[in-house]
Amino acid sequence: MRILVCLTDNRPEPWITALQEALPGAEIEQWRPGAMAADHAVVWMPPQALLDEQPQLQCVFNIGAGVDALMRLSISPQTRIVRLDDAGMSVQMAEYVCHALLRHFREFDVYEEEACNGRWVYRKPRERSQFPVGIMGLGVLGQRVARAVSQFEFPVLGWSRSPKRLEGVQSFAGESQFHEFLAASRILVNLLPLTDETRGILRRETLLHLRPGGYLIHVGRGAHLVEEDLVPLIDEGHLAGATLDVFREEPLRAGHPFWSHPKIVVTPHASARTLRRETVAQIASKIHALGRGEIPSGTVDRLRGY
Ligand SMILES: NC(=O)c1ccc[n+]([C@@H]2O[C@H](COP(=O)([O-])OP(=O)(O)OC[C@H]3O[C@@H](n4cnc5c(N)ncnc54)[C@H](OP(=O)(O)O)[C@@H]3O)[C@@H](O)[C@H]2O)c1
Repeated sequence: MRILVCLTDNRPEPWITALQEALPGAEIEQWRPGAMAADHAVVWMPPQALLDEQPQLQCVFNIGAGVDALMRLSISPQTRIVRLDDAGMSVQMAEYVCHALLRHFREFDVYEEEACNGRWVYRKPRERSQFPVGIMGLGVLGQRVARAVSQFEFPVLGWSRSPKRLEGVQSFAGESQFHEFLAASRILVNLLPLTDETRGILRRETLLHLRPGGYLIHVGRGAHLVEEDLVPLIDEGHLAGATLDVFREEPLRAGHPFWSHPKIVVTPHASARTLRRETVAQIASKIHALGRGEIPSGTVDRLRGY
């Protein structure tokens, strides 16, 4: 078996070593123009040239959960696109969302400011039932986040393409229930994949449906949010603030208004990082599944785009 590795923004050597340990019989090398014809490729944001040169690939394994960058490329219809499912990401995402949610709900940001000024001031407890948490996307990550948030006894709502039955989660599905879902949510967590249907879904018109004093936790993809619409909604008081991990352009440029806005928290696309050990183990087990003639989990439906 031959495997090519092509990882933009990642050093390939440790990945090649780890893959070699997990798949001892495989021939594994970094992709360069003119590389060997391979059975599989392990990629992150590869160039079109790789796909053009390797139309025989059985599988392209994406080392992230979102495949939007791959879906922009032209990939042979016989090549299967397989994304990462979980591999240690969902617990990180649950930590991130719960941190942002609790920081806002318990007003820890205000306490931090008071402490800086040496002030001992209590905040009035807030009513949890008044902070329903709406999660857009109830897939691998959204479901884990829903479970974590419900542990803190917030009302939890979820919106997905197809209806779900999840304990403690009120399920909304499809476009027809989108506004109803938003109107019932105060904290909005975005965990959708980026597709033609979801691009720009977080915009003035949709965010205005949230309960007053809404709060956005945006961890999907930058292009879900119409960035120009966010600051006016906060400054007008309709939204209380936002925690943003993903941006239209990354890294977020110096001087972007999000950096300095007092009600916006910015993190550098760090909510759920790819973990090499877990990822390599998952890719190896998917390759074994293929060997048994099975369809590996995380196979992307190209028509849906995720
Ligand atoms: N910030 C970060 O560090 C980071 C890290 C990892 C992932 N992510 C982002 O998180 C996304 C979700 O990951 P995942 O593993 O949870 O994906 P997933 O398992 O594929 O789940 C996607 C969810 O979104 C729903 N959905 C898709 N299109 C929809 C639409 N048009 N309307 C309503 N619901 C729709 C799906 O509905 P169905 O269940 O009905 O199919 C599903 O519940 C990734 O695509 C990626 O962009 C970000």
